[in-house]
Amino acid sequence: MNELQKKIIDLKNKKDALILSHYYQNMDVQKVSDEVGDSFALAKLAQKAKQELIILCGVRFMAESAKILNPEKAVYLPAGDAGCPMADMISPQQVLELRKKHPQAAVVCYVNSSAEVKAQSDICCTSSSAEKIVRSLPNKDIIFIPDRNLGSYVAKKIPEKNIILFEGCCPIHDAVSPDDALSMKKAFPKAKLLVHPECRPQVLEYADYIGSTAEILDWARKTQAQELIIGTESGVYEILKHEMPDKKIMLIREDFLCADMKKTSLEDVLACLEGEKEQLSLPQKELEAARQSLERMVAVK
Ligand code: 13P
Ligand code: SF4
Repeated sequence: MNELQKKIIDLKNKKDALILSHYYQNMDVQKVSDEVGDSFALAKLAQKAKQELIILCGVRFMAESAKILNPEKAVYLPAGDAGCPMADMISPQQVLELRKKHPQAAVVCYVNSSAEVKAQSDICCTSSSAEKIVRSLPNKDIIFIPDRNLGSYVAKKIPEKNIILFEGCCPIHDAVSPDDALSMKKAFPKAKLLVHPECRPQVLEYADYIGSTAEILDWARKTQAQELIIGTESGVYEILKHEMPDKKIMLIREDFLCADMKKTSLEDVLACLEGEKEQLSLPQKELEAARQSLERMVAVK
């Protein structure tokens, strides 16, 4: 650990702060975190946090979810401009229009969305809980927003439901082409391909395993396979490469990087602890409306 990391840990303990990081975060930031997790784990950890301060090293929707689920706490997003391009693809107005068109449908909202959009939805989901959430609903018709790729993955798993998709996607995962998958499979025929459901359906067809970031890590840690091709953001690949130096770990595509996730620096984290950054705040009405959808998600077993 370097001096800056030691200073952060020291101040974190003094200030009663909880530092949470997503798996896509820079490794130096992951190292000062109390917990590193996927979106679902981070939401649950934030909800039950006892500390007064929560520093969410991720993108805005993650910090918003922490604030919504635990509004009494001071929540910080260290890099204030770390957004999610997928979250920006849908507006609350578009959700209302979809509802008008399909009045009998339930709206399932991927957490990679704004608080305003969550507020217009019935229930949220993450990539690891999407299938379970959709199954848990009595409605046959489901409006799934905003990720068309995750939505069509769920639709394939639950053919008895009528999933109405929205044209949103993660530009980082959606940029992987079926050709990227095929050429890696051809070049490394013994390797197992692990893919995130935010990738296109034609890419998922080549996968040996499909799961959230946490699920991919879990599967990779258990398999006997010596060669793995990682089909999600480079943070997951970095973690596995570090943990398994004897295995051949490859990234499906060289530039598989979420620039927003990489915006958080150790200096930003320190600035939160030193009170130099603004707390995240949300309008009360929006916060309460969005809380229902998020709490329903966390409650589904
Ligand atoms: P998970 O953490 O649910 O795997 O989602 C990946 C992601 O894109 C987060 O922005
Ligand atoms: Fe958004 Fe994709 Fe980045 Fe996740 S990886 S934060 S979905 S742009």
